[in-house]
Amino acid sequence: MRNLVAVGILGGLALAGSKQTSSCKCLPGDSCWPSASQWQKLNTSANGNLLAVRPAGSVCYQTFNGQPNPQYNADACATAKNGWTVSNWIVEQQIETISHFWTNYTCDPTMGCNKPCDLSSVPQMVIMAKSASDIQAGVKFARDNNLRLVIRNTGHCYLGRSAGYGALAINTHSLQSMDFTSSYKGPGSWSGGAVKLGAGVDVVGGECPSVGIAGGYIQGGGHSPLSGLYGMGSDNALSFEIVLATGELVTANAYSNSDLFWALKGGGMGTYGVVTSVTVKTHPRVFVTGMSLNISILGVTDPAAIDRYWSAVNVFHNYAPKLAASGMYVWYGLVPFVGLIVQPFVAPNMTVAQFEAVVAPLRAQLNALNVTYATGTPTQFDSFYDLYMSMFSFIDDVGGDTLLGGRLFKTSDIEQHGANITAAYRGLINAGVIIGGHIVNPGRAVPDPDSEISSVHPVWRDTPDNMLWLYDTGATCLTPAGRQAAFGTNTQLGNPMRAASPDSAVYVNEGDVNEPNWQDAFWGSNYPALYKIKTKYDPNGVFWAQSTPGSERWTLKDERRLCKAT
Ligand SMILES: Cc1cc2nc3c(=O)[nH]c(=O)nc-3n(C[C@H](O)[C@H](O)[C@H](O)COP(=O)(O)OP(=O)(O)OC[C@H]3O[C@@H](n4cnc5c(N)ncnc54)[C@H](O)[C@@H]3O)c2cc1C
Ligand SMILES: *[C@@H]1O[C@H](CO)[C@@H](O)[C@H](O)[C@H]1NC(C)=O
Ligand SMILES: *[C@@H]1O[C@H](CO)[C@@H](O)[C@H](O)[C@H]1NC(C)=O
Ligand SMILES: *[C@@H]1O[C@H](CO)[C@@H](O)[C@H](O)[C@H]1NC(C)=O
Ligand SMILES: *[C@@H]1O[C@H](CO)[C@@H](O)[C@H](O)[C@H]1NC(C)=O
Ligand SMILES: *[C@@H]1O[C@H](CO)[C@@H](O)[C@H](O)[C@H]1NC(C)=O
Ligand SMILES: *[C@@H]1O[C@H](CO)[C@@H](O)[C@H](O)[C@H]1NC(C)=O
Repeated sequence: MRNLVAVGILGGLALAGSKQTSSCKCLPGDSCWPSASQWQKLNTSANGNLLAVRPAGSVCYQTFNGQPNPQYNADACATAKNGWTVSNWIVEQQIETISHFWTNYTCDPTMGCNKPCDLSSVPQMVIMAKSASDIQAGVKFARDNNLRLVIRNTGHCYLGRSAGYGALAINTHSLQSMDFTSSYKGPGSWSGGAVKLGAGVDVVGGECPSVGIAGGYIQGGGHSPLSGLYGMGSDNALSFEIVLATGELVTANAYSNSDLFWALKGGGMGTYGVVTSVTVKTHPRVFVTGMSLNISILGVTDPAAIDRYWSAVNVFHNYAPKLAASGMYVWYGLVPFVGLIVQPFVAPNMTVAQFEAVVAPLRAQLNALNVTYATGTPTQFDSFYDLYMSMFSFIDDVGGDTLLGGRLFKTSDIEQHGANITAAYRGLINAGVIIGGHIVNPGRAVPDPDSEISSVHPVWRDTPDNMLWLYDTGATCLTPAGRQAAFGTNTQLGNPMRAASPDSAVYVNEGDVNEPNWQDAFWGSNYPALYKIKTKYDPNGVFWAQSTPGSERWTLKDERRLCKAT
């Protein structure tokens, strides 16, 4: 009887018969799983910030982990139901992720799956870290007890890296300090402004205000609407503080641990250690010009009109290198049966006249196509923030069961195979997938041809567009086989795009978690050095995040048990 299964045994039952050896991380139910008194000791060293995981929707269930649930509460449940699709709510929770695929719809407040509410798919214990010392305690405990460790900041990762069954989670979202200085006096040549951010701080680094800057964003590279002027988010990092696998808190910058500093700038998240703060450059405010453009296919069924629409999409996308070369950032979406929504063009440090000069040839090409399109009035704003509040709208599949895929185009691929790439877009749209893209070239501002500044894929220095697709897996209650099939479908969906852009890459934060040859796709020629740095700082694999440097030394079996690869 399910209702009588005791706390902590569930995972063990689910895995009955599976091999338990020291080459695998311990799971609940294994004899190596820490005892209550060991957890209590951890709680003491983590200053009382250790909690048993309570999935956010558990307040909607009369039973939790097979026991009567004293926290069942109709009002709290209504709040959870509302929050389930709201990113600002999800980020505040212990372990929830923006795509519920990665928590396997655990304790879904809408009860869509009719399954019991328990911990059989998610971390067991969480440290709600308030200080670096809480994090040090957690890292040492996970290392000494051979536990899977998950670092969770905002849960934004669409690739599942901030989720994991049976893990000890460290939630860094409460590290919210911010220290500004107008003249940085650290190592290196930068003497302009800087800000030291706790690892949980949100700033408008990317286009979404709830992404945490010190976590996956900077460690994955980080593109932003200002990347055409200032490069990648990671190019702007001056110094990190990080808890290593040894439990030590160290500084990584141009003078100390400089190899690690390079790796933390785009070389992979959650794999070298737990970042507790990052110091980033600040820049004087610049004015920006913005404009939106739409091409609607709402209600259009005439095949010739649909072909003309795709000719227009092709013209728009093939113009991306010109837009990016001007320093512009353009956010666009392609939505099945809706159309192309460019919302907006962002032209930093450009007047309306300068903006129009860049866009005029695009208008002329669209005019020649006999398609109806709408543009707003180009408008100058005093700052990016003002433009953001007035113009941004983004397709944000929060709270669904989405898997992501993506492509970081090399300029030459669009120049030489632009029509093939558009054909691949059309295939994705016909498959019912939503597409988003970010036209911007960080290499315009920070060329870094030899990857001396940062470890992001070299294609980031010569790209006109980083696109992504959102594949709605369609069923919230997938069986293990159904989940595997969804992974397979998502990877297959990307094959025409891969074939059409042979020299392109994939952004590690906005790609397929099962990207074929991910080492090369995510990091290109920088991968071997990153692998060395990973094994130097974390030889025994205390940290593991899917498809990050060194992760191939482990296998996640059935999405549950993490074992050394044989
Ligand atoms: C709506 C939306 C909009 C986005 N917009 C942009 C954008 O404009 N530009 C862009 O570049 N990206 C964008 N992203 C992608 C985003 O950068 C990644 O999802 C990123 O990994 C999120 O990092 P996080 O720390 O907020 O999330 P989490 O999911 O909490 O963490 C992501 C990864 O970072 C690791 N991590 C988190 N904190 C730490 C830490 N303190 N130390 C070490 N590892 C840590 C986690 O273990 C995990 O592997 C967007 C994502 C979403 C969902
Ligand atoms: C850890 O200690 C705090 C403070 O005493 C307590 O509230 C919390 O429940 C404890 N956590 C666990 C897992 O026992
Ligand atoms: C997800 O939940 C389903 C039940 O709905 C279960 O069969 C499956 O094993 C779970 N998968 C993971 C990875 O937790
Ligand atoms: C903005 O443009 C002016 C010239 O129009 C240039 O001098 C200045 O350096 C630019 N600012 C930035 C931050 O690129
Ligand atoms: C232009 O489009 C309209 C319908 O939108 C169509 O009737 C007309 O024939 C088209 N003209 C050309 C030259 O393609
Ligand atoms: C384009 O569509 C978006 C989203 O529907 C809307 O907010 C915007 O005003 C539209 N722009 C134009 C120029 O029609
Ligand atoms: C690109 O498109 C052309 C023309 O349709 C086609 O002949 C060629 O095979 C395509 N190449 C790829 C890689 O898809």
